[in-house]
Amino acid sequence: MVPTAPGPAVVACRHLTRRFGEIVAVRDLSLEITADEIFGLIGPNGAGKTTTIKMLTTLLPPTGGTATVAGFDIVREPARVRRSIGYVPQLISADAQVTGFENLWVVGGLYRIPRHERRARAEEALERMGLGPVADVLVKNYSGGMIRRLEMAQALLHRPRVLFLDEPTVGLDPVARDAVWEQIDRLRRDYGTAVVVTTHYMEEADRLCERVGVIHRGEVVALGSPAELKATLGQPGATLGDVFTHYAGHEVELGGAYREAGRTRRIAARLE
Ligand SMILES: Nc1ncnc2c1ncn2[C@@H]1O[C@H](COP(=O)(O)OP(=O)(O)OP(=O)(O)O)[C@@H](O)[C@H]1O
Ligand SMILES: [Mg+2]
Repeated sequence: MVPTAPGPAVVACRHLTRRFGEIVAVRDLSLEITADEIFGLIGPNGAGKTTTIKMLTTLLPPTGGTATVAGFDIVREPARVRRSIGYVPQLISADAQVTGFENLWVVGGLYRIPRHERRARAEEALERMGLGPVADVLVKNYSGGMIRRLEMAQALLHRPRVLFLDEPTVGLDPVARDAVWEQIDRLRRDYGTAVVVTTHYMEEADRLCERVGVIHRGEVVALGSPAELKATLGQPGATLGDVFTHYAGHEVELGGAYREAGRTRRIAARLE
């Protein structure tokens, strides 16, 4: 049975599977994501988060099952899927040698946005991501947070219905992380863009995602709102970090550190 989300599904995976030889990176994944939610995928390194996102963005064909994104089948209608989505990959993808505006100009061309509209759209996207003042600065002089916001601006230029973000805040300082999340939240509020995001920062997922899926060895082992997931542990004061450890902790190389950090934080909260 496919767990059904409350509203209309903008992403629906049916037995989605991806093997690499002997490795099953994603196994029989069935879930639905609705149009008005920020959905978080969390799980240890190698759990299958990026592989899932690559299949949903049509960059990697599934070896089993399928999915629809914005109503289009990822296997049979990949071009339509691509027109409906934006994607910010795990690794930096902006061109450092040109300006922020020039990056957007090129992407606008790829999306075939007519030249007479392209400038206004690029300026609007930069403004929206708080990059108006640095539009004409070379990207090699941007901070990590600015580069991430530029990549989000690129991914949004054609006004997609679904935005896929693979670790958008990795390596950013807390202020830059907050700025990225604020933009993600505004996007959903202003345009109703559905967002599928992976992160290793449990506090972020807790604060910002309506629902979270915990993926472990290619399978979704827990799915629900952060509050629902924490309640499944039956411990007062449980954090999403505790949920992670409970469902996938034995796969984490630094499991001890995760658990320790979670415990320290709970103790700190109690002492306040
Ligand atoms: N192109 C590939 N060829 C072979 N194995 C791969 C390939 N891509 C991914 N894998 C394997 O599939 C599994 C899932 O990898 P994936 O990158 O999806 O994990 P992840 O959850 O995104 O991890 P991380 O948190 O480190 O980004 C891993 O075992 C990985 O080694
Ligand atoms: Mg990954």
